[in-house]
Amino acid sequence: MTDWPSRVDGLAEHALPLDDRGLAYGDGLFETILLYRGRPVLWDAHLDRLKRGADALGIAAPTSPDWQQDLAGLLLQCPAPLPERLVLKLVLTRGGGGRGYAVDPASAPRRISRLLPAPPADAALRESGIRLRWCGLRLSRQPRLAGLKHLNRLEQVLARAECSDPDIDEGLLCDSSGTVVSAIAGNLFVGRGGRLLTPPINAAGVAGTCRGALLAAGVAVEQALGIADIESADELFLCNSVRGILPVGRLGDRCWPVGPLTRAALACLAAIDPAFE
Ligand SMILES: Cc1ncc(COP(=O)(O)O)c(C=O)c1O
Repeated sequence: MTDWPSRVDGLAEHALPLDDRGLAYGDGLFETILLYRGRPVLWDAHLDRLKRGADALGIAAPTSPDWQQDLAGLLLQCPAPLPERLVLKLVLTRGGGGRGYAVDPASAPRRISRLLPAPPADAALRESGIRLRWCGLRLSRQPRLAGLKHLNRLEQVLARAECSDPDIDEGLLCDSSGTVVSAIAGNLFVGRGGRLLTPPINAAGVAGTCRGALLAAGVAVEQALGIADIESADELFLCNSVRGILPVGRLGDRCWPVGPLTRAALACLAAIDPAFE
């Protein structure tokens, strides 16, 4: 299927008005959600993060039934049989209008939803692990935006361009103070001395829903980490809500087998949702 379904403010639509502030300024938020057998995985966590972001930006958040109705419409637009795994992308922008950066108080938020193909399953990568490098780009520290999945993703676009080597799958990022934050498109977990640690997301980075699920299950705790802590780790993995847990096999000269804490986290995530089995 080439023309994947999309909806704007509840109607089947593929185009946006040119004055949309999401396009002009990245003035909005998004969620990328795994749709497993037609069911959005970690749905409440995604909508909670979207609501937190909308509150932080002063955008009126649509209700959960609004998004649910959009999903039902997208699924109706999708020819059978439905693939087992799809990606549901939700975008909320402040809408159009305003004078320059100044917001028009009358502007109405815009709700966009799309279905997209899911990336191929990572069964082999789960055993071999993914190959990482450090990115030179430093993430800006901005506590007011930290944790949110806002539409300004130029840092990730630039960082991704540093990973064009076919032997590299993903990059790791520090912020401007040299503190480790995350991977380009996922959160980082670090096994050290029998404990699983993940960097706090209070100055930069996205508070991932998959990360949140693992923290809530009590398998890991937050701890500030530097580059040396990562390079001397006993094991590492990345996670995001579409690909689940991805063990790290190599970073620079260091190689790791899939470790016991990673295997326990894999089992924990599969118990949280069978989509991650
Ligand atoms: C920059 C960044 N950090 C973290 C994540 C992980 O978030 P989630 O687990 O909600 O997918 C993502 C997901 O794409 C991301 O783009």
